[in-house]
Amino acid sequence: MATPLHSASTTDSTEAKVLAPLPYELPPLPYAETALEPVISARTVGLHHGTHQRGYLDKLAKLVVGTRFANMSLEGIIHATSGVAAHAAIFNNAAQAWNHAFYWRSLAPNGGGRLPAPLAARAEASFGTIEAMIAKLSAAAVGEFGSGWAWLVQDGANLHVMTTANAGTPLTERLRPLLAIDVWEHAYYLDVESRRADYVKGVMDRLINWQFAYDNLGA
Ligand SMILES: [Fe+2]
Repeated sequence: MATPLHSASTTDSTEAKVLAPLPYELPPLPYAETALEPVISARTVGLHHGTHQRGYLDKLAKLVVGTRFANMSLEGIIHATSGVAAHAAIFNNAAQAWNHAFYWRSLAPNGGGRLPAPLAARAEASFGTIEAMIAKLSAAAVGEFGSGWAWLVQDGANLHVMTTANAGTPLTERLRPLLAIDVWEHAYYLDVESRRADYVKGVMDRLINWQFAYDNLGA
């Protein structure tokens, strides 16, 4: 990604780095907590951002104290710990922190609707029609078993739909994420209980941020 989404706070005291967790900044939401209503309630957004996302960052800060990961970016930690069993907890919290920051930017008030023309052309080249891409992304989000994520990603000239379980992220597959849909229950359960399909339809029809996907497109 062009711009790191997070950074660890810095301090001049080496001793402090070893003894106390450095807080990671919780990136602010790019809109008000009420902005995604009625699809996603302010209560869900507030808990999801202020409790869950903050929780991943707070746990990460504690886990990296005194390790070589302490001053790395989230992306650096993700790449350094992916697939390393001994560092699974660090990976999970770093990846969840990154995924959530990306997720909020994948949504927008008054989203959905028409795709920017260059993105539409890529979608048609990869999926046949825009509708086919939306159907595939929706089905992936609804069908992912348990907790995880549905993604629109770019691999060279092609766009793909993929899912990741738990904290998985396309960054470790060397794929360029364009959009993320969180399908952990905490993303929708307060609003639609177990009806994940209702949440996904609301997201795709009214919130998905095609402009953000377009902005993420590489050459
Ligand atoms: Fe989440």
